[in-house]
Amino acid sequence: MLGIETSCDDTAAAVVDETGNILGEAIHSQTEVHLKTGGIVPSVAQQLHRENIQRIVQEALSSSKVCPSELSAVATTVKPGLALSLGVGLSFSLHLVDQLKKPFIPIHHMEAHALTIRLLNKVDFPFLVLLISGGHCLLALVRGVSDFLLLGKSLDIAPGDMLDKVARRLSLIKHPECSTMSGGKAIEHLAKQGNKLHFDIKPPMQRAKNCDFSFSGLQHVVDRIITQKEKEEGIQKGEILASAAHIAAAVQHTTACHIAKRTHRAILFCKQRRLLPPSNAVLVVSGGVASNFYIRKALEIVTNATECTLLCPPPRLCTDNGIMIAWNGIERLCAGVGVLHNTEGIRYEPKCPLGVDISEEVGEAAIKVPRLKMDI
Ligand code: KG4
Ligand code: ZN
Repeated sequence: MLGIETSCDDTAAAVVDETGNILGEAIHSQTEVHLKTGGIVPSVAQQLHRENIQRIVQEALSSSKVCPSELSAVATTVKPGLALSLGVGLSFSLHLVDQLKKPFIPIHHMEAHALTIRLLNKVDFPFLVLLISGGHCLLALVRGVSDFLLLGKSLDIAPGDMLDKVARRLSLIKHPECSTMSGGKAIEHLAKQGNKLHFDIKPPMQRAKNCDFSFSGLQHVVDRIITQKEKEEGIQKGEILASAAHIAAAVQHTTACHIAKRTHRAILFCKQRRLLPPSNAVLVVSGGVASNFYIRKALEIVTNATECTLLCPPPRLCTDNGIMIAWNGIERLCAGVGVLHNTEGIRYEPKCPLGVDISEEVGEAAIKVPRLKMDI
């Protein structure tokens, strides 16, 4: 299976076989370019995808030693994502399947993230998945290859986006130890040198007994703290605060507590409704933010308390990649769902929810989550 991913700022491709062997892969990351502009400019992302897609697909194929005629199908992300970015991957793929006379498998980016764990571990349905990255934030129950229940999502920005904004506001790019790190990683690194109790930042949405998330309020609270500290320390915006590490530790702690609480509620809801087994249920955590050890530790406290198993794909499979798209293609091919022999009328969809949204029902259940000691 050839998998092609261009939904955001990575041009990625991979060839994977039905047993999960990664035969070849290639990726071109646009992070550096977007870091300079302080965010993704869609037309720039589109241009970079155009410049790289041919080479990346070629590299994945040639390193796999699989001849294009031996492919079973081509799987490509068509939803959700940036319209201009999705468009590049889709039109390239449609040309390719037309040339090769192969079936086409349109892929939902979030479904691919959610199922990646099955490439590595024998994880049976159903399981719970938490996707946390710069662009994603959701909790879903995975019941089958194309059977998802959405339990909750962020009502505003994703946690990685918030951490990136805080890191930018703290000018961590100028910090000698953090200059090459993503915002989230810089916060994690600096937090180790700080005291999380130095600032008392309340977790968001404490009264809403659902599994939704919110991070923009937190971002603004931290922004105010930074402005205050700049005044106190008598430094200009753009210089690094003496208290930056304490701020990083506090924001990381609050983020971890918020994510842990919502996830805890999702586990309790699924168990109450018998959507998950009473013991040994699996929680999969993926996305760029899942590589944060502090957040993982908070989630481990939750899974220990609820007798669940916590699984995280390795970092390179947590972030956007072509392997997860190819694997989703294999899962679909094996299950016989969504394999197209005729691609007429196929479109990309920038906005597309994951599965059936039952988040209101989750809120109505108003499950009270027992307090856990977050000793991390
Ligand atoms: O999955 P990803 O590569 O891209 C998408 O967002 O789709 O995730 C990138 C995000 C960024 O916001 C980055 O700051 C965050 O993941 N991130 C982290 C860590 N490493 C990356 N956040 C917290 N702790 C980390 N160690
Ligand atoms: Zn993603």
